[in-house]
Amino acid sequence: KSWRQCLIFLVFTLNECLGFEKYYDGHVVLQVIPKNSLQFEALRKLNEALGFEFDFWKHSNRVDKPADIMIPEEKLDEVQGYLKKNNLDAKTKVIDVGRLIRKEEEILESHESSSRLRSMPSFNLYDYHTYDDQMAYIKSIAQQYSYVHLESLGKSVEGRDIQYLKIGYPSNRPKNILFIDAGIHAREWIAPATAICIIDRLVTNPDYTSLLYDIDIYVVPNVNPDGYEYSRTSDRMWRKNRSGPRQGCYGVDLNRNFAFKWGYSGVSRDPCSETYAGSSALSEVEAQHLAKILDANNNTIKAYVTLHSYGEDLIYPWGYAIRTYPSDVAELKKLAHEAAEAIHAVNGTRYSVGNSADELYPASGASDDYSKSIGIKFVYTFELSPTSSDDNFYGYGFQFPKEFIQPTCEETFPGILTIAKAVQDTN
Ligand code: ARG
Ligand code: ZN
Repeated sequence: KSWRQCLIFLVFTLNECLGFEKYYDGHVVLQVIPKNSLQFEALRKLNEALGFEFDFWKHSNRVDKPADIMIPEEKLDEVQGYLKKNNLDAKTKVIDVGRLIRKEEEILESHESSSRLRSMPSFNLYDYHTYDDQMAYIKSIAQQYSYVHLESLGKSVEGRDIQYLKIGYPSNRPKNILFIDAGIHAREWIAPATAICIIDRLVTNPDYTSLLYDIDIYVVPNVNPDGYEYSRTSDRMWRKNRSGPRQGCYGVDLNRNFAFKWGYSGVSRDPCSETYAGSSALSEVEAQHLAKILDANNNTIKAYVTLHSYGEDLIYPWGYAIRTYPSDVAELKKLAHEAAEAIHAVNGTRYSVGNSADELYPASGASDDYSKSIGIKFVYTFELSPTSSDDNFYGYGFQFPKEFIQPTCEETFPGILTIAKAVQDTN
C-alpha cells in the first residue's frame, strides 16, 4: 500500500474506533448503463475485478438498466480506467456525497432547533425524525384512538424498544391481518417516514372504518432503530443493524438474516460487508423479533408489505433465485399490478412490477421470502422513490429530500389500500 492509502486507512479506522462521524467528502455517485451483454458482465464484475466493495446504491439487472455506484475519491481513477477499458459510459449523478450529507444535516438541524423552541412540539409528518420522536408519535396515536394499540416486538441489540401499532376494531371472530414494516435498512429514511404517514392516513380518515372492522393492520415503522440512529449521527450510508463487532466491523444485513434459504445467494460471509448475512439464520435479535410475530400469526396475516428504498419497484417472491416463483405467482403478480396502477393514478409514478430476483438481483434470507415460506399469501417489497432512471432522482438516492415525503406517501397509500382490500376479500 502507498503511504497515502495507509494514512486514509488509519484515519478511517481511528474514526470508526472513536465513533466519530464518517465522512463522504469527495465520494461521487456514477450512473452506469450497460449497453450490451459484454458491458453488463463487466459492470457486474466491477467489485471482483478491482478487489473493493463499491457501494452499489442501485444494481443493474440487465442491459439498458442503470446502476448507481458510490466511489471514494481515491478509487475514481481506477474505476474510470476499468469502465473505459470495458466501453462503459458513466454519468456523474452526485459530485460530492459529503456535501449532500451536510446540506441535509443543515436542513434537519434548523428544524430541530425551531421545534425545540415551541413549548408543545407537534409532529410534522413531512419531516425526518429521530427514532424517539417516531415512537412518541405512534404512542400519541394509540392514546388518541380507541381502536389503535401500541405494542412492542422486543428490544434491539442496543436496547431500543421496537414498537408498533395494531390498528383495527375489536371483533368476535378472528380477523385477518395486513402486516407492514419499514426501516429494515437503516439509510432508507423514506421508508419509516412513509410508514408513519400511512398510519396517519388510516386513522384520520373515517372512510376506512369498515375496512378496519373487517381486518387488522399492523405497522412496524422502524425495525432497525440502532441502524437508523447510527445513520443519523455517524454514518449516513449505514445499512445494517449494529451488532458486533466481529473482526472489527459492526452490523448484519437484516434482510439477509432470515431463516429461509439463508446464505444461498446475494450475501457475504465477511462481517465487514454491507450484505453480511450474520453468523447463522436469525442470529440477529431484530430479525428474531420480526420472525416471531410473523410465525405466531402466519394463518391470519394474509399480506406482508416491507418498505425499502429506492427504485420505484413493487416486487414479489422468490427473491433467492432468478426465474423461481411460488405456485400462486399469478395471483401475486395480478395484485401487484393493481397496486401499481393505484399508485400510478395519483401522481403518474410508474412502479416496475416483477419478481424480486428477476427485477433486482437474487438475494436470500430476506424478510419477504421468509414470510412467503411460512404461508403468508400476498408478499411484497416496495422500493419507494426516487428512481435513478428519471429526473426525479436529482442526484438523491437515500437522501430523498423531505419535500418528497408527502407525494411519496400520497401515492403509496392507495397501493397499500389495494392490498388491504385483498386481505379483506380473503375473509
Ligand atoms: N433491496 C432489497 C435488498 O437488497 C431487496 C430485497 C428483495 N427481496 C429478495 N428476497 N431478494 O435486500
Ligand atoms: Zn432496503
